[in-house]
Amino acid sequence: MWGGRFAEGPSAIMREINASIPFDKALWRQDIAASKAHVAMLAACDIVTDADAETIIDGLETIAGEYEANGVPEDWDLEDIHMTTEARLAELVGPAAGRLHTARSRNDQVATDFRLWVRDAMDQALAGLAALQRALVTRAGEHAESIMPGFTHLQTAQPVTMGHHLMAYYEMAARDVSRFSDARRRLNQCPLGSAALAGTGFPIDREMTAQALGFAKPTDNSLDAVSDRDFALDYLQAAAQCSLHLSRLAEEMVIWASQPFGFVRMPDTLSTGSSIMPQKKNPDAAELVRGHAGRIVGCLTSLMVTMKGLPLAYSKDMQDDKPPVFEAASLLNLSIAAMTGMVDGATFRTDRMRQAAELGYATATDLADWLVRQADIPFREAHHITGAAVKLAEGKGVALEALTLDELQAIDSRIDERVYSALSVEASVAARASHGGTAPAEVRKRVAEARQHLGMD
Ligand code: ARG
Repeated sequence: MWGGRFAEGPSAIMREINASIPFDKALWRQDIAASKAHVAMLAACDIVTDADAETIIDGLETIAGEYEANGVPEDWDLEDIHMTTEARLAELVGPAAGRLHTARSRNDQVATDFRLWVRDAMDQALAGLAALQRALVTRAGEHAESIMPGFTHLQTAQPVTMGHHLMAYYEMAARDVSRFSDARRRLNQCPLGSAALAGTGFPIDREMTAQALGFAKPTDNSLDAVSDRDFALDYLQAAAQCSLHLSRLAEEMVIWASQPFGFVRMPDTLSTGSSIMPQKKNPDAAELVRGHAGRIVGCLTSLMVTMKGLPLAYSKDMQDDKPPVFEAASLLNLSIAAMTGMVDGATFRTDRMRQAAELGYATATDLADWLVRQADIPFREAHHITGAAVKLAEGKGVALEALTLDELQAIDSRIDERVYSALSVEASVAARASHGGTAPAEVRKRVAEARQHLGMD
């Protein structure tokens, strides 16, 4: 493509280090779409003839059919997807092919293709997250009243409802949706026509190509347009944060599926067995989602470090932008799908959860609150009295409500039999009806709002 200036061809090492075709062939659909939009615009602006444009478009469509059927050929001499397609076009249609690259450079071409690819990845993440949210909301609705221990420090803290716990992940997914949507809006400007770095002297119509490719408008600065990879970083930031959420849910599934907890039975379809221990059912999918989060964060770090010291405009370092984005996207899409399957297919063992809530002194705060309200005892003193009651119950190996009134009154004479109604786990969750609290009535409200938001009703 640039033989005119060179006396010798590239060494084997140069060819190998330079070639991006092994990975950027993934951009072939975007590359062909952008080339078609470009040449149609060149014809509309009388920069190429209609006949040449038609020949080029037919040729590009033939190439798309070939790639679809046989894959993209990998010839390192042709470096990347842009030159691979242009070389094939020249074979197919002859000299007219040489007019396609008028008023464009690979710098604006790759920036455009990559934006189109990342925009699709954002749309895939958004579709996956919508499915995950629907699964969470459905299960939360089923378990608006199921009681489980809520934890801090992974120590039993206060009873919560299972529906409330699942809706916490709905909120995280909602923020992920907002991040991807926001990133998509920022991405949606078209670099095509920025050419190598300075724009072009040809009388092109950038609005036309932007519109043809579904962008809101052309980018406003050619130097920025060819050297900007913020859209890829925005995607990776959103992906990394989303993967942290998925990883936390995965970690809970791993803990809950363990025998001492026994809160959940994982679906067989997302578990594996052991080659030696016949009893085993391992939560491998959840563990891999937890593992993948580390790799996705690594992809984000990789591209941030690639970009940090680059002068304007394009530098070849930027060719390294694609592998981390491609890797993160496939890991993220799989992780979202795996967690959706787990939420859909998990059997929540509400009996075990309830038992754990009862045996963990989860209603101790309710006893303290009762002392404040009914006996007008300052909270700090109530806390102390309750601590003594927990100590006694723990020593006897029983739940708080199994202590007799005599035993409780021996700790503090102001306690009377009404206290028992505050000590049940049901009373505890029902009492927490502040906005966003765990009370079943509140959870049902949040579930109803979410179902409406997701168009489920
Ligand atoms: N393969 C290149 C990349 O992915 C395309 C742009 C090449 N531009 C250049 N000036 N060498 O970044």
